[in-house]
Amino acid sequence: KNLTMEDLSAFCNQYGFIFKGSEIYGGLANTWDYGPYGTRLKNNIKDAWRYYFIQNRDNSYELDSDILMNPTVWEASGHLAGFSDPLLDCKSCKTRHRADNLINEFTTEVNADSMTQEEMIHYIREKQIPCPKCGKSDFTDIRQFNLMFATNRGVTKESASTIYLRPENAQGEYVNFLNVLRSMRTRLPFGIGQIGKAFRNEITPGNFTFRTIEFEQMEYQTFCKKGEDEGLYEYFKDYGIGFFEFLGIQREHLRHHDHEKLAHYAKAACDIESLFPFGWGEINGTHNRTDFDLKRHEEYSGKVLEYFDEETKERYIPFIIESTYGLDRIVLALLFETLEEEELEKGDTRQVLKLPAFLAPIKINILPLIKKRHGEKALELYNCLKRKYMVSYDDAGTIGKRYRRGDVIGTPYAVTIDDDTLENGTVTIRQRDTMEQVKLPVLELEHYFSDKFTI
Ligand code: GAP
Repeated sequence: KNLTMEDLSAFCNQYGFIFKGSEIYGGLANTWDYGPYGTRLKNNIKDAWRYYFIQNRDNSYELDSDILMNPTVWEASGHLAGFSDPLLDCKSCKTRHRADNLINEFTTEVNADSMTQEEMIHYIREKQIPCPKCGKSDFTDIRQFNLMFATNRGVTKESASTIYLRPENAQGEYVNFLNVLRSMRTRLPFGIGQIGKAFRNEITPGNFTFRTIEFEQMEYQTFCKKGEDEGLYEYFKDYGIGFFEFLGIQREHLRHHDHEKLAHYAKAACDIESLFPFGWGEINGTHNRTDFDLKRHEEYSGKVLEYFDEETKERYIPFIIESTYGLDRIVLALLFETLEEEELEKGDTRQVLKLPAFLAPIKINILPLIKKRHGEKALELYNCLKRKYMVSYDDAGTIGKRYRRGDVIGTPYAVTIDDDTLENGTVTIRQRDTMEQVKLPVLELEHYFSDKFTI
């Protein structure tokens, strides 16, 4: 597909999906604000996730835990000690780079993801990899830079008051494991999911919303008995593919990527990647986190985090299989997947966003053919339908232009009110993708739309 990241970013800005953060102040690097349609799209994806992961699964519970947590959580989780990026500076132009990025962007001969810090610096010096900014090849040693955002609680700046913005949602689920187990009176295996913001002080972010310092995750943790973990791990690798297909991403635009180099908490890890203008990029991760997290929280909190198995009368710390989704990346992947430029008759073209109807920001566009004659009736219909759906009303410009305005933001249906509506009570419904039109009595509209937007 001939769409660059710049095209996507310009599209998002023009049509109210995503704006540059703090734009009137010149922005803040790698922060983005979702506009009215981007917010709707994001919310619709969240609803789809809730359906797929919470509502449609047994023993599955949603949580909304705080972003700020007791700082000992991050000692226990290993983030304070080990959640860092390998950085080095160009001695010549003073630009800071991630060592793994320098290598991976320079060559496909090796993969920096599976190299140690020593191997990386050795390779960079041996191959004389140039600084992408100034072209010189004179770098400092690699230093590990912790990715967590720290802030201070209260008015003092003593280290005792340092707290962190969470770099992942997962710990909220883990520290509430016993609370959910008890209050939901549930049993293993069960799942806790959560949608929420995470923050990472990424030093070389970029690629529009693909890598940002503030982003939203949809994470799902399955607590299970040891021995059931490997089967569940395989299951969630496929469940993730199913979820993305359900959102409208074609199977051939999705692939698994097994990890060789594992995060500090994982025994096995696999990403799902989809297509972006720059190539394949991670949108999901499945991790076998074993009993690492709960064991560590038991150790650091002093609270027993065991499960009592009624059947076997055993006590044990459950294993965790994590299935995590980056919401902002999914928005981007979906826009890239569904934005089409189509040739029409007479050399005309249109831009159309072929989102599944349940994800479309606006479901129905109500159009009076002639504002003066049909506007009142159209507004009546608009006021009626808006109680049920996100609808828009558009009476400006030619009908063709109004169709295009709906197409480009992915509105699946347009309803035109004309003389036939006034005389016979019929309206014309136009479908976005096929551009086919059908006439229907106004009274049948509710029934017609009743199954069109269900998840
Ligand atoms: N709890 C595990 C965890 O956080 P991760 O692979 O680091 O795992 C999960 O992050 C997902 O969050 C990724 O698959 C990606 O979609 C998204 N993500 C991670 N870092 C991001 C960033 N800086 N900007 C946008 N999305 C990000």
